[in-house]
Amino acid sequence: MERIAVCPGSFDPITNGHLDIIRRAAGLFDRVIVLISHNADKHEAFTAEERARLVRMVVEDLPNIEVDVFDGLLAEYVRRRRACAIVKGLRAVSDFEYEFQMALANKKLNDQAETVFLTTSTENMYLSSSIVRQIAALGGDISPFVPKRILQAINQRFQTEKE
Ligand code: PNS
Repeated sequence: MERIAVCPGSFDPITNGHLDIIRRAAGLFDRVIVLISHNADKHEAFTAEERARLVRMVVEDLPNIEVDVFDGLLAEYVRRRRACAIVKGLRAVSDFEYEFQMALANKKLNDQAETVFLTTSTENMYLSSSIVRQIAALGGDISPFVPKRILQAINQRFQTEKE
């Protein structure tokens, strides 16, 4: 049976750090679903469809990756897709408490939902979507932080916002 992992997140927008985790997950599982989800603690800058489009642009050459959008409970989605794992990236100890809480809650809601943490690569330890948004909104250079393919789309989006 195919081993499917779900890699959920707000991806607002996707960064090099996210892509690194997605690629590595794709090497560990038969199929990885990158799930654009809603984080109730965050106000997203990009719509779910915009975020999904950006993710699709960067994973199109990876054959075992699918991109989906879901606004409900992650544990339900995992059940519905018969996935065996939720993959999350951990940047630092400060990520751990929150991620651990979510992993336990998801396991309680769906006991098949095993969360697997991948440690971030050292060059991406400081990187977050919020840093990318702040720099882009102020007209800074975000090219070291996001995949080349979506650089223009992100910059355009922040440019349009200013006009
Ligand atoms: O990239 P983020 O913002 O850290 O991702 C958090 C996300 C979107 C994965 C989390 O908020 C989530 O799972 N949202 C879906 C709704 C849900 O199931 N919430 C309960 C989580 S225990």
